[in-house]
Amino acid sequence: MSLRFHEISEARNRILNPFDQAKLDLLGEIVSPAAGSRHLDLACGKGEMLCTWAARYGTTGVGVDLSEVFLAAARERAAELRVTDRVRFEQGDAGAYRPEPGGYDVVSCVGATWIGGGLTGTIELMRPALREGGLLLVGEPYWTEEPPPAAPEALGLARDDCATLEGTLDRFEAAGVELLEMVLADPDSWDRYMATQWWTMSDWLREHPDDPDAPAMRGVLDRARRSHLAYQRRYLGWGVFVLRPVG
Ligand SMILES: C[S@@+](CC[C@H](N)C(=O)[O-])C[C@H]1O[C@@H](n2cnc3c(N)ncnc32)[C@H](O)[C@@H]1O
Repeated sequence: MSLRFHEISEARNRILNPFDQAKLDLLGEIVSPAAGSRHLDLACGKGEMLCTWAARYGTTGVGVDLSEVFLAAARERAAELRVTDRVRFEQGDAGAYRPEPGGYDVVSCVGATWIGGGLTGTIELMRPALREGGLLLVGEPYWTEEPPPAAPEALGLARDDCATLEGTLDRFEAAGVELLEMVLADPDSWDRYMATQWWTMSDWLREHPDDPDAPAMRGVLDRARRSHLAYQRRYLGWGVFVLRPVG
């Protein structure tokens, strides 16, 4: 799906992943970043994690994202929470972003591990920015059970793009990081992420019947709704995993 379609379909979402506010807050409590610690968020979306953690814990941070639309919302959120002096947002390809080596206490990539060509590559991409003893936060899908063959295709995935939870642990271990903690989405929080988008897309289609992208957007909406109900809700889990490099 093109960036423009994401920007339209997620216009009413503040968190651009299958977490609801309670789960994002729980992740914050678990990580409990120290005041003044530095946070780099790759593919930060609307910057909700960076902004709320800066407000709640006194962290400072940098968010990188491709979308100017999402970054504008992130800057607005920073102003709303009065943390514009602590967080800044940069437009760019997070896969090509070269941060200060060892400059961050927390490096996150939540829901965008394609930036490094998959989970392992993204962990490799994130590690150099991390200071000794710092934490990586990775948001990643997983299969809750073996999916029927039609499921990955309907969800726009290959079967091996993600693993089971145990297989995800294997991937972390192979990448040289230890799994310390995790917060997982559930079908209800998945619904908040997806079903909000159905209504937003439906309204957009009513308001823009003659837009050249309208037929494609109708297809996106139909597929998003059907694949979520048929497969995503049951077979695709999603979580944020708290990781620390081994050794
Ligand atoms: C699923 S959303 C997650 C956003 C945010 N991390 C969150 O959890 O709310 C994926 C984000 O990745 C961004 N994105 C996609 N490809 C990117 C890239 N190569 N570099 C930077 N951002 C990218 C999109 O604009 C979008 O904001």
